[in-house]
Amino acid sequence: PNVEGMMLADDFEYWAERVLGDTAWAYYKSAAAKENRSAFSRYFFRPRVLSRDVSQGNIETEFVGMKSTLPIYISPAAMAKLGHPLGEVNLTKAAGRWGIIQGISINASCSLDEILSSRIPNQKIMFQIYLNKNRSASASLLQKVTQAGVDAIIFTVDNPGNAKRTMDVRAKHSGLEVPINGPNDRLSRAPMGIGEIIGGYQDRRLVWDDVGFIRKYTNLPIIIKGVQCIEDVELCVKAGVQGVILSNHGGRQVDYAPAPIDILYELRTYRPDLFEKIDVMIDGGIRSGSDVVKALALGAKAVGIGRSFLYANGTHGQEGVERLCEILEEEITNTMRNMGVSYIHQLRPEMVGPAGPWVG
Ligand code: FNR
Repeated sequence: PNVEGMMLADDFEYWAERVLGDTAWAYYKSAAAKENRSAFSRYFFRPRVLSRDVSQGNIETEFVGMKSTLPIYISPAAMAKLGHPLGEVNLTKAAGRWGIIQGISINASCSLDEILSSRIPNQKIMFQIYLNKNRSASASLLQKVTQAGVDAIIFTVDNPGNAKRTMDVRAKHSGLEVPINGPNDRLSRAPMGIGEIIGGYQDRRLVWDDVGFIRKYTNLPIIIKGVQCIEDVELCVKAGVQGVILSNHGGRQVDYAPAPIDILYELRTYRPDLFEKIDVMIDGGIRSGSDVVKALALGAKAVGIGRSFLYANGTHGQEGVERLCEILEEEITNTMRNMGVSYIHQLRPEMVGPAGPWVG
């Protein structure tokens, strides 16, 4: 169906399953993070009525010094070319058209130069990094992206261990020969998924001091991605970074990781002061305008979306990505108006709470 036939973010997923190749579908969908999604369904709104005229307004926001027309951004995700031959560049162009911010994955399938040169003037963009076991490679990459005019660094920290992505691995029963660093350096014929194949260079021994390593090679704002409890948000503040993304990597790393909306609710409940000290974002399982508004009301400055953008790019290319922005813009605006607000700053934490009678 053409792009106008798409009415929900989930429509892109439905069609992606039918039109993407097996490898792409399995890699994107892998570890589908059902909990991230179902957690949203445990939060309900407490709309206010008649409190103001909501016929005018906008849903602009700002996070880590970057303005965005919509309170959503494109989460950094590897390998957009698996879904569409033009890959990440489609996302860049769509983001430019809509005035939203894209996170470029260090494992992007288009080159950094291709992506950056697809921007319109003044288009803000973020670069996501995993630190390399070979630190000089990380140092020169940080210097390169800083000089190239990227606006923020996302430092992803939630995968010190490998993940068991069964769908991804099963889709690749190729029996690739993989060296095992054992006494005999023998070869294993264990099937590897895309996740394992592209992640081999990553340094898995990271500690808080490594934030200092990044700061040594860039003066850009740093956002730590993959934080999953209140204590670690506090440590992000201590580390002096400008942003934190509450995220469990779209559920792709560890089973029973907490849903980001629950982490956000805990943070809002127990440490409301921290929202003044650091910009808080979340990602994982966000599929509708109401999901977005719940997160905003609880204090998120913006929310990241990974899979829906990959699916929209996979089924309809740039047009699909733009259509997804349009769908979400409409849903967010309508949800907010029906809550009695027409600007993001008018949303309040008490407008959202766990299902059941509210105990304020
Ligand atoms: C990711 N994600 C990710 N994160 C990151 O920091 N670097 C990366 O290279 C990738 N790669 C990646 C590939 C694919 C296919 C997916 C689905 C995800 C995680 C991503 O940034 C984000 O945290 C989740 O995608 C958010 O969850 P939803 O929106 O996909 O439910």
